[in-house]
Amino acid sequence: MRGTPTCNHEKFMPKVSLKTDSLAFCLLGAAHAVAAVRTGTALPQALSQIFSKNIAPPQARGAIQDISYRTMRQLGRAEALLALMTQKSPEPALLHALLCCALALISSPQEQAGDAPYNSFTVVDQAVTAAASDLSIAHAKGMVNAVLRRFLRERDALLQDVLRDPVAHWNYPAWWIDSIKSAYPHDWQAILAAGNALPPLTLRVNCRKTTAAAYMQTLALHAMAATQVGPVAVRLAQPVPVSQIPGFDQGLVSVQDAAAQFAATLLDVQDGMRVLDACAAPGGKTGHILECADVELLALDSDARRLPRIAENLQRLQLDATLQVGDAGSREWWDGQAFDRILADVPCTASGIVRRHPDIRWLRRKGDAVQLASQSRQILDNLWQMLRPDGKLLFVTCSLWPQESEAQAAAFAVRNQAIRLSAPGQLLPTANTEYDHDGLFYALFQKAITAIT
Ligand SMILES: C[S@@+](CC[C@H](N)C(=O)[O-])C[C@H]1O[C@@H](n2cnc3c(N)ncnc32)[C@H](O)[C@@H]1O
Repeated sequence: MRGTPTCNHEKFMPKVSLKTDSLAFCLLGAAHAVAAVRTGTALPQALSQIFSKNIAPPQARGAIQDISYRTMRQLGRAEALLALMTQKSPEPALLHALLCCALALISSPQEQAGDAPYNSFTVVDQAVTAAASDLSIAHAKGMVNAVLRRFLRERDALLQDVLRDPVAHWNYPAWWIDSIKSAYPHDWQAILAAGNALPPLTLRVNCRKTTAAAYMQTLALHAMAATQVGPVAVRLAQPVPVSQIPGFDQGLVSVQDAAAQFAATLLDVQDGMRVLDACAAPGGKTGHILECADVELLALDSDARRLPRIAENLQRLQLDATLQVGDAGSREWWDGQAFDRILADVPCTASGIVRRHPDIRWLRRKGDAVQLASQSRQILDNLWQMLRPDGKLLFVTCSLWPQESEAQAAAFAVRNQAIRLSAPGQLLPTANTEYDHDGLFYALFQKAITAIT
């Protein structure tokens, strides 16, 4: 992959007026977001910066988001095609990103199957209009036209050529593909494919208010097709905004992946227990624990900006916890009273949830897992001191990298003489009719009754 040119991607302000309901406007908005990701900004953050300028109406925001997410899932192929058709990397980065967005749309497998959301000739025409509307890239509108039209003319030969490159074929960086291959020699292709699939909308039914069976009937009354995929997990056939989910505002259900719903059950909480949710924001698992039992729960997170998200979630569910800002790797916030249960959903590379966050693969670096594993080692060792004898600690990551997950768990057990109880271990991301969940890791530890801390 060639070097990424730089640009001021925050200036999404077409110089020549573009209709905000045009594809050209949305392509340009998406190009700004994609250029921002290529210089290290997470896609949700890049999009919210673009939307904060208030020039994109709601419908355009949906299309800008859709094109940017599609491009993230197809960036390897788009960049390889661009490299094949140009002698040097198009500059500035906005131009490069605009071409990638257009190529991602017109070279997608859906396009080949005749099932694409955007007509190829319209995409080319609108990409040229988008280029012409921005002074920083208007000079290159002829080149945009030439590259994209060449792709349409020579599509089969160009695709055949680039798809020999694993990065173009799988749409992940080469180091990512190699790491998955080496960790999962039998499943690597299925894992990479699952990470490129569109994620389902899975709900967790609040067992304090209703049952999964009753909620399935509620959905049927609203003509919403769904499948029960766990004890309280219900997957909608068609994702919808939360405002359209029956009973969401009343706390009947929460949005939560089916694998993430294992946490509260594994933690085995009972009424009256003192529970620590050590890396709690935005509070998905906090809410589930409180739905399962009447416990005294401390929800800790080191990021003060994320605590209000926990408060909002608990308010909607009408549940209570003590919220505190603090570093789970230190003792500063601890009152010295041991916990019966500790959930350690530690910060990690998030490599198991790339189908929901397709930008992660382009943002992460190979060394990130080692650095994050060292941080979570400190968190786990520190939290272990706060667990009462006979108490349980559940270690969770949403990573696929063994050094953050299984290797960490095994080393932790040895260091702390922890009893390892039965837990799923590494759950691979899976999308089929029976199972449909992200890639999470679970290890459950118990402290010996005689343990000296
Ligand atoms: C994987 S997310 C937790 C998701 C959450 N448990 C849920 O189910 O909604 C990890 C969280 O850990 C927090 N975090 C990172 N480092 C931390 C630390 N040293 N101490 C406490 N929280 C930390 C992050 O701010 C982030 O909110």
